[in-house]
Amino acid sequence: MDLAKTISIVDPAKLQLLAHQLSPNAKVRANEPLAKKTTLRIGGPADAYIEPATEADLAAVIRFCAEQKWPWRMIGRGSNLLIRDGGIRGVVLSLAQPRFCEIQVSGERLICGAGVKLKQVAMEAKRHGIGGLEFLEGIPGSLGGAMRMNAGAMGGSTFDLIETIRTMDLTGQIVEFPAANIPVVYRSCPLFKTHIALGAVFKGQSAPRESIEAKLNEASRKRWSSQPAAPSAGCIFKNPSTIPAGRLIDELGLKGMRVGGAVVSDVHGNFIVNDGHATARQVLDLIAAIQEKIRAARGIEMETEVEIVGEDK
Ligand code: EPU
Repeated sequence: MDLAKTISIVDPAKLQLLAHQLSPNAKVRANEPLAKKTTLRIGGPADAYIEPATEADLAAVIRFCAEQKWPWRMIGRGSNLLIRDGGIRGVVLSLAQPRFCEIQVSGERLICGAGVKLKQVAMEAKRHGIGGLEFLEGIPGSLGGAMRMNAGAMGGSTFDLIETIRTMDLTGQIVEFPAANIPVVYRSCPLFKTHIALGAVFKGQSAPRESIEAKLNEASRKRWSSQPAAPSAGCIFKNPSTIPAGRLIDELGLKGMRVGGAVVSDVHGNFIVNDGHATARQVLDLIAAIQEKIRAARGIEMETEVEIVGEDK
């Protein structure tokens, strides 16, 4: 093992200095394990992990990181994330504090912080008789993560329902945009390479609660019957334009294929599940093996949908 790779680049004294600049409720931790912050339950530690309590804290952290030349990245619910076994050098930021997890309802609009779970948005919409947001129930992430990748399910995508977005640029300034002006594509929103998602306003339509409930139940039933309950990072590959990745993997007989504790799900071919002991290395090796089989059989280059970050051990 190359030890040099796993040595923290965050000086603990400087991290303390940063902690003193933040509000008392901000969390600042060194060498924080991250595996349990991902739905796949895999990955090494972050050099530093920070939960800002306010937008001003967040701005202070990104400015401090720029001064120190510390790389940083946001983490949402970790539902689309594969963190390598050596963990993440620099700072990992999460908008998990209450300030970023609020939902306010105004008429047919829901004003949501980036830290809220999409499931909560769907539930709050139901409670207020706002329809059209039911498919969000099935996406297991936070709003911030879903905005970054324009997450979708059941034929709908996050940006279909958003009216305006609130962001912070890399200098710490707050910038709001009408969503209609933001270019989005399948599973990607390039704006978030240069902006942090802080929140969004969803717009639905008033609807009878029973019809919302029926749609939620139908979406949930479909998901539980077609997707595995075991720990996973959702769909591993983007769907190629010609065939859904799950069907392709199924047709090639790759379900059940395994590298160590990483297994292609028997329920849905585009999910790799962690049977309890998988490492990131094993998941990556399984991804490469699937890519190779598909390349050889069909000549298709499979692109990963899951975000792969960090360093090898
Ligand atoms: N299929 C198979 N075998 C399988 C899996 C799927 O034959 O093992 C077939 C299905 O029968 C269906 C087709 O492939 O005819 C598509 O499958 P599914 O309806 O499950 O949709 P998907 O394209 O595989 C997409 C999203 C999911 C989202 C579902 C539900 C992508 C890559 N995936 O899956 O999103 O939950 O629709 O709407 O776009 C994710 O983003 O992580 C994710 C899981």
